[in-house]
Amino acid sequence: MTLENKFGLTNSADLAREEEFVSKKRAVELFENSVLDSLPAGKFSTLQAIHKYLFEDIYDFAGELRTVNIAKGNFRFAPLLYLQAALESIDKMPQASFDEIIEKYVEMNIAHPFREGNGRSTRIWLDHILKNEIGKVIDWSKVDKEDYLLAMERSPIKDVEIKVLLKCALTDETDSREIYMKGIDHSYYYEGYTTFKTEEL
Ligand SMILES: Nc1ncnc2c1ncn2[C@@H]1O[C@H](COP(=O)(O)OP(=O)(O)O)[C@@H](O)[C@H]1O
Ligand SMILES: [Mg+2]
Repeated sequence: MTLENKFGLTNSADLAREEEFVSKKRAVELFENSVLDSLPAGKFSTLQAIHKYLFEDIYDFAGELRTVNIAKGNFRFAPLLYLQAALESIDKMPQASFDEIIEKYVEMNIAHPFREGNGRSTRIWLDHILKNEIGKVIDWSKVDKEDYLLAMERSPIKDVEIKVLLKCALTDETDSREIYMKGIDHSYYYEGYTTFKTEEL
């Protein structure tokens, strides 16, 4: 099943290609226009602005909360019923140290507020927090994609792997467009979500 999109594409490979092209173009603009400079680090409203910016040319739901329950692999992200409350408590989580910031990132990933594009938008959100709070960002070219996905799958249970992996990739080069764009590349375009009803829980 292909997500409804503004291009009217019905083939998932075509949509993946178009989505990658358009969202990368928008990510460059987000960087070049310094959009994030005026937004608060670590707030859901900022993640929402990032998601809207990246995906508004493609999806009607850009920047909007998902309206279905979703799962990836064996993991069910926050049930719709608790999503709003989860986002409010994540907003209040501390973000003074690297560990606190990653813990916040892990919780935001569990919330998975959008129907699609959570990975790309939340990694930009993470780098924005790191840059503002500790003057560093992640050089995603130093993070093996497979290790990253395994660590993220594991993170709701134990966050030590994702912390170690990302700590090793920290860099002071917070203003490099190349390093920033590497985070957008870290996606698996062809893996989709399964949706389910709350009664199935
Ligand atoms: N089984 C899982 N458990 C927890 N998090 C996962 C799992 N699978 C993927 N993720 C996270 O979700 C992201 C993918 O979310 P998605 O909404 O498809 O974003 P994008 O389309 O930008 O890649 C991955 O980058 C990873 O951070
Ligand atoms: Mg995806």
